[in-house]
Amino acid sequence: MKRRPSSLLLRGGELVLPQGIRRGDILVEGERIALIAPGIDPSGLSPAPAVMDCGGLYIFPGFIDAHTHFGLGEGESRTADGFFEGSAAAAAGGVTCFVDFADQLPGKTLLQGSLRRIEEAAEAAVDYSLHQGIYRYHPGLEGELEELGEFGVRAAKLFTTYEQFGVRLDPGEWPRVLGLCAKKKILPAIHAEDDGLIEAAEKRLLAEGQVPGPALHAALRPAEAEAAAILSCGRAALGSAAPLYFVHVSSSLGLGAVRDLRGEGLRVAAETAPHYLLLTEDHLSGPEGALALMTPPLRRDQDRKALWEGFALGDIHVLATDHCSYTPAQKMAHPDCRLTPAGVPGVGEAASLFFTNFPGSPAQKAQALRSVYSENPARLFGLWPRKGSLAAGSNADLVLFDPLASGRIDGSRIRSAAGYSPFLGLPYLGAAAATVSRGMVVARDGVFTGEKGRGKFVPCGISSVFEKS
Ligand code: URP
Ligand code: ZN
Ligand code: ZN
Repeated sequence: MKRRPSSLLLRGGELVLPQGIRRGDILVEGERIALIAPGIDPSGLSPAPAVMDCGGLYIFPGFIDAHTHFGLGEGESRTADGFFEGSAAAAAGGVTCFVDFADQLPGKTLLQGSLRRIEEAAEAAVDYSLHQGIYRYHPGLEGELEELGEFGVRAAKLFTTYEQFGVRLDPGEWPRVLGLCAKKKILPAIHAEDDGLIEAAEKRLLAEGQVPGPALHAALRPAEAEAAAILSCGRAALGSAAPLYFVHVSSSLGLGAVRDLRGEGLRVAAETAPHYLLLTEDHLSGPEGALALMTPPLRRDQDRKALWEGFALGDIHVLATDHCSYTPAQKMAHPDCRLTPAGVPGVGEAASLFFTNFPGSPAQKAQALRSVYSENPARLFGLWPRKGSLAAGSNADLVLFDPLASGRIDGSRIRSAAGYSPFLGLPYLGAAAATVSRGMVVARDGVFTGEKGRGKFVPCGISSVFEKS
């Protein structure tokens, strides 16, 4: 009898594989998938594996949330979820790997920024990786990008907005920075909103006597600003043919701009978030409007529908939550929406809500969810096939997903320390029944059962977009 490391046998699940959904067993040994087969006989295995009956459950590769903000900010403006709370909420929703952001720190190299963030992430309960912010060009940047990429941080977060926070990359620097990213095979991940158009909208609306409460937020940061910024990034990328990844595309106009850039021959990937798919600017009205405030803002119903269509047509590749959680007290402290901390929680609910609302049969929903919340982010951020893949040798990051679990998002399902969800009251049909992270069961029935600090930094390889160059 062959001796093996401690193991787990998932029996009789519906495996969500790229080639289709197949009933089968998965044997996990230690932290990896050892074998996938139609029927695995545990009798010859020593030690005997723990067996989980997966009848009626889909088994997905662990979900990857490529855009979170845990442990962000200082003092009163600090997010409710630190790395532990956020990653525990993530695990409860089936997420086994998240990608957070490191700042470009004054006087430090890019790598030093990422290393600082890794220290801050010490309590993460599931694996994570990082995107590194670049807010300023300087002559040493090329060498820093080289060093960063070798370390395993291979996406750069760039902003066309947030001048007031000191993170907006000077418009004159975009061609040079995008060119360096392309040269060093670092994927630019861009928050695209044109600050000039935002300022103009603000000036006009305030001159009209409009009150800058949450209900005005969508008008203050119009969809035109998103589309214009996407197009200007495209123009800046033309010289170097740098690939581009646009985070949290929120509008039909923004998606149209993404398509235009592709039409011009650029390699452009796009991400959107559950709140843009499920909520509209109407949620910004009323006394609790601030609870639904994020940037870019919520849009109209037709934008929401255009984004769903974007997934169906393959024009949007990634679902990511932009989870950035504040308590209601923090969100509602200022009547002026320009002072409201921007962002909403969502990492615990995203998979369930996407599965529920993606149009089609359960199998189509499952395939879409596997693509946009596991395989595509894994490939785009160089994590595949360690993550995002059900295959022997991959990390044993697995989601046992019950397509019949149903209810409404209510207080009992909220895992974020924010203590509320912008999705409160929405019905769901399908939810994670258990989450396995590198071989360990870290959540059951929406309740975290894992360990603080077990998450590891996962170095990224080169993004799949560079394979086509
Ligand atoms: O409102 C948001 N999205 N807050 C997080 C920061 C960002 O812009 O992604
Ligand atoms: Zn952003
Ligand atoms: Zn964000």
